[in-house]
Amino acid sequence: MNRISESATMAVSAEAGRLKATGIDIVSFGAGEPDFPTPENIKQAAINALDDNFTKYTPAGGIPQLKDAICKHHSKYFGTNYDSSECIVCVGGKHVIFNTVAALIEDGDEVVLPVPYWVTFYDVVNYHGGRCIRVTTREDQGFRLTAEAIEAALTPKSKLVIVNSPNNPSGAVVSKKEFEKIHELTSSRGVMMITDECYCRLVYDSEPFSIAATDGAKSNVIVAGSLSKTYAMTGWRVGFALAPKELISAINKLQSHTTSNVTSIAQKAAVEALVGPQDSVQEMLDEYRRRRDFAVQALSDIPGVTCATPGGAFYVYPNFSYYFGRNGIDTATDFATQLLQQAHVALVPGEAFGTSQHVRLSYATSMHELDRGISRIRNFVTGLA
Ligand SMILES: Cc1ncc(COP(=O)(O)O)c(C=O)c1O
Repeated sequence: MNRISESATMAVSAEAGRLKATGIDIVSFGAGEPDFPTPENIKQAAINALDDNFTKYTPAGGIPQLKDAICKHHSKYFGTNYDSSECIVCVGGKHVIFNTVAALIEDGDEVVLPVPYWVTFYDVVNYHGGRCIRVTTREDQGFRLTAEAIEAALTPKSKLVIVNSPNNPSGAVVSKKEFEKIHELTSSRGVMMITDECYCRLVYDSEPFSIAATDGAKSNVIVAGSLSKTYAMTGWRVGFALAPKELISAINKLQSHTTSNVTSIAQKAAVEALVGPQDSVQEMLDEYRRRRDFAVQALSDIPGVTCATPGGAFYVYPNFSYYFGRNGIDTATDFATQLLQQAHVALVPGEAFGTSQHVRLSYATSMHELDRGISRIRNFVTGLA
C-alpha cells in the first residue's frame, strides 16, 4: 500500500469541501466532473428499472443488453466491430484501468506513460508492481504526444503503453496520424496499448476517432471507456472495456470475485444513455467550448502565465512558474496550497500529473465561477512579493 497515495484530485476536493463547510466562499476548479445534471431520459430509465424491480444481481460483466448497446454505439461513432464477447461493463473507467493492469502486469513489467498523466494510471501501475516509464511532452507543442517519444521509451520489458486522448490534465488530443504510428509501433513490438477514451466525445477542433477502428488494432488495443463525463454520470459508476476475448475473460474472472456487477439500475440507465437521444452531449460540448475559450484567454492575460489551448476534455493546464520564488512558493503544490488558503480557489497542482510548473483547472463549472475564480487567481499572483 505504501507504493500508492490518495488520489490528489480527490484530496483537493475534500480540502475545498472542508473549507466550504466552515463557511468560506471557495471557487472550486478541482473536481473533474460535469456541472450539468444527468439528462432526464437517463434518469427516467433508472426510475423505470426500479419500478420494474430490476434490482437483483446481474451477470458480473454486465447485462447483455448493455454490452450490445456499448458495441453498437462504439461502432456507430467510431466504425469499430466489437461483439459482446469482447466487451465488459465495469464500475467506471477507473475500474477498467485497474482490472486491465491487474490482468496484464507482473512485477517489474514496464508501462510507458506519457506525461502529464491522469494520476490514477501511475498509482495503479505501481500498485500492481509495474514500473512507469515516463514520456515527456512539451508545453510549447501543446503537450502533443509523438510516436517518436514513445519509441525511445520502449525496451524489451515494455508490456503496456497507456494513451489518453483527450488528455487529463492537459486536454491535448493525439492526431489520428500520430495515433496510428503509435499503434503500429506497439503492435510491431508485441506491446499492448490502453486507449483511455473517457473524454472521446469531448473534442473541440477535430473529429473524434478511436484507434480501435484501425486495421489490426483489435489484437493489442484495450479501449477503456466511461459514461461518466459524456453523459454527466460520474456518480452512476459505469465504464466498459473493449478488448481481446482472453483479456475480457480474465477481467470478468477478477470482477466476479470483487465488485460483481455494476449496479443493476445504473446499467439500465447506461443503455438509455447510449441508445437514446444524444442532443445533450452536443449541448454540453458547445458550452464547454465557450468556457475553454474564455479560460484560456483569461489565464493567458495574466502576466507571466502561459496556457496551451486544449483540444478536448474540460481542463486547462497553465504554467505559473513565473511566480515561483515569491512568497515562499517554490512548487506547483506550494502555489495551489497558498492559493486555496489565501485566495480561496481550489485547483490541482501539476505534481499530481507528473509536471512541476503547472496547475490543472477544471472548467466543468459555470462561466460565472470561472470569471470569479480566475479574477481571484490574477489578484493573488499580482499581489505576490
Ligand atoms: C483520463 C480518465 N480516465 C478515466 C477516468 C475515470 O472516470 P470514471 O471512473 O468516473 O469512469 C477519468 C476520471 O477522471 C479520467 O480523467
